[in-house]
Amino acid sequence: MELFYATRDGQSRRIAERIAERLAEREIETLPRDLAVRQPSQSSLESADLVVIVAAIRYGKILPEARDFLAAYQKLETKPKLVFLVVNLTSRKPGKETPEGSVYIRKAIKQYELAPAFARAIPGRLDYKRYTWRDRQLIRFIMLMTGGPTDPRTSIEYTPWDVVDDIAEKVAELNGGTPAVSESNAVT
Ligand SMILES: Cc1cc2nc3c(=O)[nH]c(=O)nc-3n(C[C@H](O)[C@H](O)[C@H](O)COP(=O)(O)O)c2cc1C
Repeated sequence: MELFYATRDGQSRRIAERIAERLAEREIETLPRDLAVRQPSQSSLESADLVVIVAAIRYGKILPEARDFLAAYQKLETKPKLVFLVVNLTSRKPGKETPEGSVYIRKAIKQYELAPAFARAIPGRLDYKRYTWRDRQLIRFIMLMTGGPTDPRTSIEYTPWDVVDDIAEKVAELNGGTPAVSESNAVT
C-alpha cells in the first residue's frame, strides 16, 4: 500500500499520519508521503495494490501536486485500487462528505476517470490568522455563503477524528483484510 498527501497548512498531513498510525496498530506499515516533495514513479504505482491519497482543496480545486498525481494515475496501464480522500471546509456540512455530495470528488472522478474503491471528503481546519489578508477574505466569503463563522479570530478544527479512524479501518479492509502474521507470532 502507498499513502500520499497534498497539504498547505498541514491538516491533510495530520489526517494521513493518523491513518498510518491506525494501520500500524494492525501491523500494516506505511509511510505518508508528501506529493509536493516527490511524485511516485509509474512502476512503484503499478506494483502497489492499493493507493491512498489525502488531498487538500484550495480555491475550489485539489492542490496541483495531487492533480498531477491523479493525471499520472489515470495513465497507468494497471491501476491499483484507489482510496480518494479530499480535505476541505464545505464537507463539514452533512451530505457534503460523500462522493455524490462533494463537488470536488465528483469533478475529479469525472476529469481523471477515477473509480475509487472508497472516496470521502473530510472536514479540515479553519484558522483565519494563518491566512493572508486576501485568503482570509476569500474564506470568510465561503463561510458567509455556507453559514460558518466569519469572525477573523476563529480557529476551529472540524476534522472528526473518529471518522478518520473508521476510514483507516476501511483502508485496512481494502488492503487485504486480516493483518499479516508478524515475525513474533509466526510459527517457526
Ligand atoms: C486559500 C484557501 C482556499 C480554500 N479554498 C477552499 C475551497 O474552495 N473549498 C473548501 O471547501 N475549502 C477551502 N479551503 C479550506 C481548506 O481546504 C481547509 O482549511 C483544509 O483544512 C486545508 O488543508 P491543509 O491544511 O492540508 O492545507 C481553503 C483554504 C484556504 C487557506
